[in-house]
Amino acid sequence: MRMVDLIQKKRDGLAHDATELEWLIQGYSKGEIPDEQMSAWAMAVYFRGMNSEEMTELTMQMVRSGMEVDWSDWNLPGIVADKHSTGGVGDKTTIYAAPWAAACGLYLGKMSGRGLGHTGGTLDKLESIPGFKIDLPMHDFQKQVQAIGIALISQTKQLTPADAKLYALRDVTGSVASIPLIASSIMSKKIAAGAKAIVLDVKTGSGAFMKSKEDSILLAQAMVQIGEGLGRKTVAWITNMDRPLGRMIGNALEVREAIDVLHTRGSKELTELGATLISELLVAVNPTYSIEAARSFVMKKLLDGSALQKMREWVTAQGGEASVIDDPTTLLISKQILDVPAQMSGYICSIEAEAIGLSAMRLGAGRARKQDVIDHRVGIEMLVEQGQFVYAGQPLCKLYYEQHVLAEAEVSRIQANITISDQPPEVLPLLIARVDAFGVTKF
Ligand code: URA
Repeated sequence: MRMVDLIQKKRDGLAHDATELEWLIQGYSKGEIPDEQMSAWAMAVYFRGMNSEEMTELTMQMVRSGMEVDWSDWNLPGIVADKHSTGGVGDKTTIYAAPWAAACGLYLGKMSGRGLGHTGGTLDKLESIPGFKIDLPMHDFQKQVQAIGIALISQTKQLTPADAKLYALRDVTGSVASIPLIASSIMSKKIAAGAKAIVLDVKTGSGAFMKSKEDSILLAQAMVQIGEGLGRKTVAWITNMDRPLGRMIGNALEVREAIDVLHTRGSKELTELGATLISELLVAVNPTYSIEAARSFVMKKLLDGSALQKMREWVTAQGGEASVIDDPTTLLISKQILDVPAQMSGYICSIEAEAIGLSAMRLGAGRARKQDVIDHRVGIEMLVEQGQFVYAGQPLCKLYYEQHVLAEAEVSRIQANITISDQPPEVLPLLIARVDAFGVTKF
């Protein structure tokens, strides 16, 4: 086989067969195919797309390029499930939903990533809990899942190395935003980690990877097809990321807000999102459940304190200071606060999620470049919601900062990105659509 023939084939809009994809991905992984040819091929995929058989095979080949987490020896009384978000601003869902799901009897062996640009990372957020370790050896990771139903670690380098190499290449050659490549990249990591049931939270809007609802649905459909094609029960929800999720943006602030959900004093939207995703997982794992029965069981596990107790167990198991769960105000959060006032009276029309995420990043909560060091204490607390009426001078948000000059520089940027109008806007719901093997339901 010659790489140039495969590039031309894809350039001309033809589909690859399984042998070609195996040759291509394993060859690239072993260094037998040079970056220039691989980037030409990725660009051809960007323009020509892939059918569902190609996406499934590409995913499988990326899985085969590395190790697969094997749960078969652990005698788990249930199957390993996973919840994945495509990422956004203020997305702390995993922090409260993962222990909540484990309290419902699900097994979550999760691998997560760090934040970059306007989006935060679950690992960074969890590291604002004093002592919390995210680098457990694989054996300890699996043992913890067996013992308490939940463990979360950083992505190991042995998993899907072909994806890591291809993703880095796409990043510098302009082919990240390709639905088949994103879908196979995300799903290869879920499959390699051994998840048998997967619920995907596909964010849509200004703070998301996918800015339009249509593209988000296409991405969700691609991932569901891949998951189901590989025998994993897979469901996706399209959720609104036109505005930040919840009130807090920034690492320790988000952990505090996540813990509040488990204390049953959290925001309605966060609670609703968690309950929706966990109920889907329960039904995926046990199809005899109706979604309504699953939901009432899930809510019971929140209201009776089981989810909160599971968070204590989880944090303790990973070396963290569990007292922060009972008193999240002890998390280290910047004491210096600057209010951002509204410049006029009116209705909050939009809160640009990406811009707010970038403001939090510049305060020190995120990374502009991979090597940047973050400050877990800083961030933004939103004080207003889309559709709310505000008076001129009323604070829109609070900036928690360590360097006053950085906070001051964000005031006018944030004011420019929270638009106020004399007409109330149409407020889109958080839950926009649901995608499963049978189709798309829009809300
Ligand atoms: N996240 C991934 O893991 N892969 C992509 O290609 C894009 C986002």
